[in-house]
Amino acid sequence: MVDVSINGQSRRLDADPDMPLLWALRDLLDLTGTKYGCGIAQCGACTVHVDGEPVRACVTPLSAVAGRKVTTIEGLHPEGKHPVQQAWVDAQVPQCGYCQSGQIMSAAALLAKNPNPSDADIDAAMEGHLCRCGTYQRIRTAIKRAATS
Ligand code: FES
Ligand code: FES
Repeated sequence: MVDVSINGQSRRLDADPDMPLLWALRDLLDLTGTKYGCGIAQCGACTVHVDGEPVRACVTPLSAVAGRKVTTIEGLHPEGKHPVQQAWVDAQVPQCGYCQSGQIMSAAALLAKNPNPSDADIDAAMEGHLCRCGTYQRIRTAIKRAATS
């Protein structure tokens, strides 16, 4: 058993502590907004927050989040209207959408710590997030828009 807070709710998961957090989110909790891309921490699609920090859920075992607070894209805002999500809509960022929940989670974590990031800050925070559709420019635009909202 692993006890963890998921999107503000205490959950007791009957799972192997070595199970990747991504598997638990998607297969045990049906939180499928967090995506599986590479499985080896190389794409960012699986990014969630653990105690407010962005982490790659595909390489994070459940044991590492025991007693901690996990936030997924579903928990970022009850109506999907976090300023970053709003900015994403306004800037029409997504194309296929597959990478976007991970991108949004890293952007939200950045702005929570640094409400007025420079281009370099944005590049550092978003490093390692791959978008096969090439939405990088719109992502930067949306982060700046969210920063001023
Ligand atoms: S699926 Fe986790 S970083 Fe790619
Ligand atoms: S929007 Fe398609 S992979 Fe990023």
